[in-house]
Amino acid sequence: MNKSFKRYTITSALPYANGPLHIGHLAGCYVPSDIYARFLRSQGKDVLYVCGSDEHGVAITIKARKEGKTPQEVVDHFHGLMKKSFEEFGISFDHYSRTSAPIHHETAQGFFKDLYEKGEFLEQSTEQYYDEEAGQFLADRYIEGTCPKCGFENAYGDQCEKCGSSLSPTELINPRSKLSGSKPVLKETKHWFLDLARYSDFLKKWILEEHGNDWKNNVLGQCRSWLEAGEGLQARSMTRDMDWGIKVPLPDAEGKVLYVWFDAPIGYISSTKEWAAENGKDWEPYWKDEDTQLVHFIGKDNIVFHCIIFPAILKTHGDYILPDNVPANEFLNLEGDKISTSRNWAVWLHEYLEEFPGKQDVLRYVLTANAPETKDNDFTWKDFQSRNNSELVAIYGNFVNRAVVLTHKYYQGVIPLRGALTAYDEEVLAALAEFPEKIASSIERFRFREALGLMMDLARLGNKYLADTEPWKTIKTDEKRTETILNIALNIAANLAIVSEPFLPFTAAKLYELFGMSESKWELAGNSELLSPGKVIGKAELLFEKIEDETVEKQVQKLLDAKKMNEDANAPVAPMKDIITYDDFAKLDMRVVTVLEAEKMPKSKKLIKLKVDTGLGHRTVLSGVAEHFEPEFLVGKQVTMLINLAPRKMMGIESEGMILMAEDKDGKLKLLVPHEGTASGSTIS
Ligand code: 2FM
Ligand code: ZN
Repeated sequence: MNKSFKRYTITSALPYANGPLHIGHLAGCYVPSDIYARFLRSQGKDVLYVCGSDEHGVAITIKARKEGKTPQEVVDHFHGLMKKSFEEFGISFDHYSRTSAPIHHETAQGFFKDLYEKGEFLEQSTEQYYDEEAGQFLADRYIEGTCPKCGFENAYGDQCEKCGSSLSPTELINPRSKLSGSKPVLKETKHWFLDLARYSDFLKKWILEEHGNDWKNNVLGQCRSWLEAGEGLQARSMTRDMDWGIKVPLPDAEGKVLYVWFDAPIGYISSTKEWAAENGKDWEPYWKDEDTQLVHFIGKDNIVFHCIIFPAILKTHGDYILPDNVPANEFLNLEGDKISTSRNWAVWLHEYLEEFPGKQDVLRYVLTANAPETKDNDFTWKDFQSRNNSELVAIYGNFVNRAVVLTHKYYQGVIPLRGALTAYDEEVLAALAEFPEKIASSIERFRFREALGLMMDLARLGNKYLADTEPWKTIKTDEKRTETILNIALNIAANLAIVSEPFLPFTAAKLYELFGMSESKWELAGNSELLSPGKVIGKAELLFEKIEDETVEKQVQKLLDAKKMNEDANAPVAPMKDIITYDDFAKLDMRVVTVLEAEKMPKSKKLIKLKVDTGLGHRTVLSGVAEHFEPEFLVGKQVTMLINLAPRKMMGIESEGMILMAEDKDGKLKLLVPHEGTASGSTIS
C-alpha cells in the first residue's frame, strides 16, 4: 500500500488552444490522470483535479497568422471546443481554466516578481534572431532550420521534432524566419534568465536520490540526461520579445512577455485559485501543505519543464510543495505514423464523439489497454475493433448481460438468496476479494494498463463462473443451486462496476443504476454480498455493441483521404525525368506555329481539332485541351508544337504533331506562347 496523503492535487498538461484534441493527447495524459482522479475519489480522498487551456506562446500566434485571425479569436474557439470535448468524454476535471484568465496573469506575474526580487534572474542582453522584413524578433518556433544533431531540415528554434533534441535558435544550420522566409539577422535584446545550474544539486538530490526508485524509467532517463549532461544545466530565458502573452511586470520590459513555459505550469495554480474562489474553498493547502500529493500527468515532450524548470521555480519561491510524481507517458502513433495536427493524421476527439455516440468507454478502454506507458505505441482501428468485439463485448458485456438476463428470466429480476456454497464458489469469491487491492496497487504505481488488465480478469472470472456452473442447466434440476449461482454472479458484476468506474465511468454508471447501487466506494469492492437479496434489478441493457468491419474501414479511409489531400496540397512540381543526351534532344523538332482554325471534335469531351500553319505547310492536329480552352480562344494564337512526332489516328482523323503545353501540379494547362511577332515555323532549341 502506498503512502496515504491528506489530499491530492492532480494536474494534467494544459493543452495548447491552437487545435482540437486528438487521441494522442488523451493517451498521453488525460485518460491516465482521469483514471487516477476517479480512483482516488472513489476511495473517498480529498482530490483536486485541474487543467485548463494553454493560450500563450508561439504555437497560437502562428496558427492565428495562418488563418488570418487574432490570437484571441483562435484561443476562444479552441478553448470552447476542448472544454466541451473533455466534458463529453467524461474527463472529470474539478476545474478547467484558461491562461488568459486575469487570475492567471496576476499569479504568473506574481511568481516572476517574486523571483526577480529574490535576485534569481540573470539579466542578459544577448543577440537573438530578428526578421528585418517583418520588423520583429523571432521567438523559438518562428525560426526553422536544419538540426545540427540529426540533419532534419525542419527543426524548430527550440526543439527538433525528429530526434527530440532541445536546441537554441542559434544552433540551427541555415535558419529561416517562418514569418517571411528570409534569413534572420542577429540583433541585441535584453532578457531575464533562470540560472538553472544553481538548482542542479538540489534537482539531482530530489529527483535521482529521493525519487530514483518511484518515478518511471522514461522520466528518470530524461532527467538524468539533463542533469548529468557534460555542459550541465544551461540558463534559460524566461521572457520573450512578443506582443501575445503575459506582460513582463517590470518597468524596463516594454514589448516583452513571459516565456510560455514560465507561465503555463503556473496555470495549474491559477486554475486551483479559480476553483477555490468558485467553490468557497481554500486553494493554499492544495499547493503548500506537505501532506498533499502533487502529481503532474504529462506527455514525454513536457518532462524537462515539469521535472526541472517548474520545480526550480516552485523551490525558489519557497512556499510550494514539489510534485511527488510526474508519470509522463511516451507518444501514441496512429496506424504506424506519428500523429500530426498539421498533416491531419489524427483521430480527433470531437469527431469521434459525433461519429461514435455513447462509445466514450470504448475509446477510453482501448487507449488504456494500449497506453504508451513505457514506450511509444500504435493505435490502429483494427485493434480498436478487436478490443471492443473480443474483450468489451465478448467478455465484460457478455458476462453482465447473462447474469442480468437469467435473473429476469428465472426470478423476475429479484436478486435471489444465496444458499450453501460449494468449494468452487469459495474459490471464486476468494479470488474476487483480491481484485480491488491488486487493481489499486497498480493504479497507485501509475500502471494503468496493468490495472485495466486486472479489471478485465475480474470480468473473465465472472464469465468463467457462469460457463462452469451453467445455471441454464441447473435451473432444470436444482432451483436452490441456481439461486446461489446467480446471486454470486450478480455480486461479481456489482464489484466489476466499482472497479471499472475509473476506467469505464459511463458503463459503471449504467451498472450502478441497474443494480440500484447509490455510489461507488472502492472500500466496498471485494465484498461478495454487495447486493441485497430480494431487491429488484433493472432490465438488461446493451453495455457494448459489436463494431462492424465497415465502420472501422470507413475510419481508415478517412485517414487515407486526409493523407492524400495533404500530399496533394504539399506535392512539389513533377519530379525530373531521366537525363538524356544532347542527341536525344536534337531529335525533337519543335516549332512556333499559328492556329488557323479550331473546332471541338464531335462526341469527344477532350479533343479539339486544330488547323495550324507550321511554316512548312498546314497541318491538322488533335489536341486534348477542350476542357481547358474554348476553340475561339485558340484561333489566331501562336503556340509551340512538336512537328516530327509520328502521325497518329484518333477518332478517324490523323493528328500530325503535338501542341506543347505547360501543366501545373493540379493538372491545369497553359499555352506556351512565343514572344510577339515570331514567325510561324521558327525552330525551338
Ligand atoms: O505541450 C503542450 O501542449 C503544452 N501546452 C503543455 C503545457 S503543460 C503545463 F505546463 F501547463
Ligand atoms: Zn534532430
